[in-house]
Amino acid sequence: MYDEAYFTRWIISFERVTMSDKKVVISRAEIAKRVKELGEAIARDYAAGDLVVIGILNGAFIFVADLVREIALPLVIDFVRMASYGASTSSAGEVRLIKDIEIEVGGKDVLLVEDIVDTGQTLAYLKNFLAAKNARSVKICALIDKKERRETEVPLDYVGFEVEAGFLVGYGLDFAELYRNDPEVYRLPDNSSGEQ
Ligand code: IMP
Ligand code: MG
Repeated sequence: MYDEAYFTRWIISFERVTMSDKKVVISRAEIAKRVKELGEAIARDYAAGDLVVIGILNGAFIFVADLVREIALPLVIDFVRMASYGASTSSAGEVRLIKDIEIEVGGKDVLLVEDIVDTGQTLAYLKNFLAAKNARSVKICALIDKKERRETEVPLDYVGFEVEAGFLVGYGLDFAELYRNDPEVYRLPDNSSGEQ
């Protein structure tokens, strides 16, 4: 994955994308408010449950950290990791599990937590994957539902924000592994990738 072409694309893209080109799409305050609302809704829905929160690395790490602190319930947390986009802003079209969960989900209520849903392939794959481990239920919480390129319909049980299009970064979302630490969500300008 990290071959010469990867780094060439990364450098070209990075030179084109400067902080001043980025447009704020979701502010820090909006994120905090919505994450609190989602956490409260989840706590209500799972009141009697046996909740396992599974974050999808790397993008969901910040969202998971904030979300679980708004869910006033006993719960356990684990992570899976999927193959990443590399330096491109369009999906490789192939979904691959790189890191499995380490806790037992048989008979438990699973809540999959994702940063952003694009084609839907990642979540469709993981939902089946976890159901096959005999989870009692598998629901999905996504910070952002990006609608323009959906290929696989997958029901989203909790959604933070809906966005029509564009490539977003910040609050865990990356472009070539950059910008994850930005506290707000930004839209990259279209010229930051030849593929948009
Ligand atoms: P899907 O399988 O096409 O739904 O892809 C979902 C994954 O693609 C997410 O977990 C993100 O890692 C990545 N992704 C999709 N759109 C964006 C974006 O706008 N910014 C950053 N990552 C994205
Ligand atoms: Mg991701």
